[in-house]
Amino acid sequence: MRSPVPDYLQQILDECGGDTSGATADYIPELAAADPDLLGVCLSTIDGTRYEAGDAEVAVSIQSISKPFAYALAIAEHGLDHVLQRVGVEPSGEAFNELSLERDSGRPLNPMINAGALTTHALIGPPDADAEQRFELVRQGLSAFAGRELEVDEAVYSSELDTAYRNIAIANMLRSYGVIDHEPMDVVAGYTRQCSVLVTSRDLAAMAATLANGGVQPSTGEQVVERSVVRQVLSVMMTCGMYDAAGDWMSTIGFPAKSGVSGGILGVLPGQVGIATLSPRLDDHGNSVRGVQLCSRMSSDMGMHIM
Ligand code: DON
Repeated sequence: MRSPVPDYLQQILDECGGDTSGATADYIPELAAADPDLLGVCLSTIDGTRYEAGDAEVAVSIQSISKPFAYALAIAEHGLDHVLQRVGVEPSGEAFNELSLERDSGRPLNPMINAGALTTHALIGPPDADAEQRFELVRQGLSAFAGRELEVDEAVYSSELDTAYRNIAIANMLRSYGVIDHEPMDVVAGYTRQCSVLVTSRDLAAMAATLANGGVQPSTGEQVVERSVVRQVLSVMMTCGMYDAAGDWMSTIGFPAKSGVSGGILGVLPGQVGIATLSPRLDDHGNSVRGVQLCSRMSSDMGMHIM
């Protein structure tokens, strides 16, 4: 572990650390109780060199940051055309937990909102796979991106499943449109388990670096998914990854990214570096307040905007 400029990453943590605005996600009791002061950053270059500061080793549930990876796994397994029949690629302009389905087909607008992610989760594995087998394939896939075996936070899982009223409603709508073929409750349980997988900022940076590296995990050398899959995933992250703040994010910070309600943000600078920040207080869009600031700072200091 090294720092590029003496303590640059620590310096930006110090400078952004004082902002205590925002709040931890309150619709999942276990997340509401998270330590709001956690603050970490980790960068991993495509050769696996890591730079980090703060709480980079603290594990939190991955939440929505799992969505682009599950999307990648679904495309790798079934091909893009098949996945596109079930999930679109258009920004919804709405919150992540809105229904946001196409009017006639019922197809979710994109795989980053909950409706699209529930659908993507349901696509993984052979048609006769049960909920447990589906989740295990997702867990193995996420682990391959991270380069180590990832586990589930059972407390977060039960806490979220006990209060998953909205996702259950969305999954039932998807089933009624024939967008998912499985029992809605099984899909919600599996997707919630996917969201409960524990990751550190180091893991997130490694997962991001795998995308930056055209699908090859920098430490293990495994080609987790093909480059064409990565292209699709990053395109959708660029337009939909930060939800109803996606346009603002892309025009100001300027690299494909994905946020999660436990406070993580994962960013990818293709061909260069994977970026991860952690800070649990969220803004109104469900994005980490200090994470957005840290990414903004790194983007301007290091010229990370893709333009
Ligand atoms: O489905 C949910 O509500 C959560 N498991 C994930 C949401 C999430 O992380 C949205 N991101 N900002």
